[in-house]
Amino acid sequence: MKDPSLRRSLALFRGFLREPSDPRGFYELLARDAADQVERYEPLAGRVVVDVGGGGGHFTEEFRRRGAQGFLFEPEPRELTAARRRPPEGAVVADGYLLPLADGTADICFCSNVLEHVADPRTFLSELIRVTRPGGLIYVSFTNWLSPWGGHEWAPWHYLGAERARRRYERRTGRPAKHVLGENLFPVHVGATLRQVRARDDVTVVSARARYWPFLPGLVTRVPLLREFATWNLLLILRRCP
Ligand SMILES: C[S@@+](CC[C@H](N)C(=O)[O-])C[C@H]1O[C@@H](n2cnc3c(N)ncnc32)[C@H](O)[C@@H]1O
Repeated sequence: MKDPSLRRSLALFRGFLREPSDPRGFYELLARDAADQVERYEPLAGRVVVDVGGGGGHFTEEFRRRGAQGFLFEPEPRELTAARRRPPEGAVVADGYLLPLADGTADICFCSNVLEHVADPRTFLSELIRVTRPGGLIYVSFTNWLSPWGGHEWAPWHYLGAERARRRYERRTGRPAKHVLGENLFPVHVGATLRQVRARDDVTVVSARARYWPFLPGLVTRVPLLREFATWNLLLILRRCP
């Protein structure tokens, strides 16, 4: 599907709404979409692709389908089996802060929707860059805190305070919330993250855009304040400096 286009964004949104009943269908769609995005910058065939915090491995499987040597690193054994029966062969239980990889191993380091789940995104990003070879590509996306989906399962009530939103979710569903602010969900912002990556001397920012937007995805991330609410999910394409 053409990216950006209204058709693509609507298909992703419909898939997202169906996620509770068809997680596999949604994640396979998302994986095809992300692989298309990566291939705009770097072919996948024949490349070593490291998927950090890759959950059930739907992205790794799509990368392999396209001829890449895909490797999945995921710290939570439960996540490995959440949306499917069996994780991809060779999946490694490992923390993204400390990957069991030598410097410069990956042609492409891929990390989707993990940054907002770590307490120290700057150090986490440094590890992604460390394992990427000079000239290699780093794909990082995250849902920023002030996005309408920033509070995850308790969104959009996080605008009224995280604790209140979480309690409301638990009261309404009778289930414990998966995310707790300060434990496994952290407020990450678009402007601060952009300033942080632009200040680094080990990567260049190839693209900074709203991952799911149907039009002008690069423009929205340039407008201070508006970008915190309208980006939804920031996609950074970085290239490691030679
Ligand atoms: C919202 S899920 C995203 C899963 C998948 N990447 C995707 O986009 O569908 C967040 C993932 O981040 C992982 N995660 C949390 N802390 C991590 C860490 N320190 N290192 C690597 N992954 C981590 C979680 O276990 C979980 O699988």
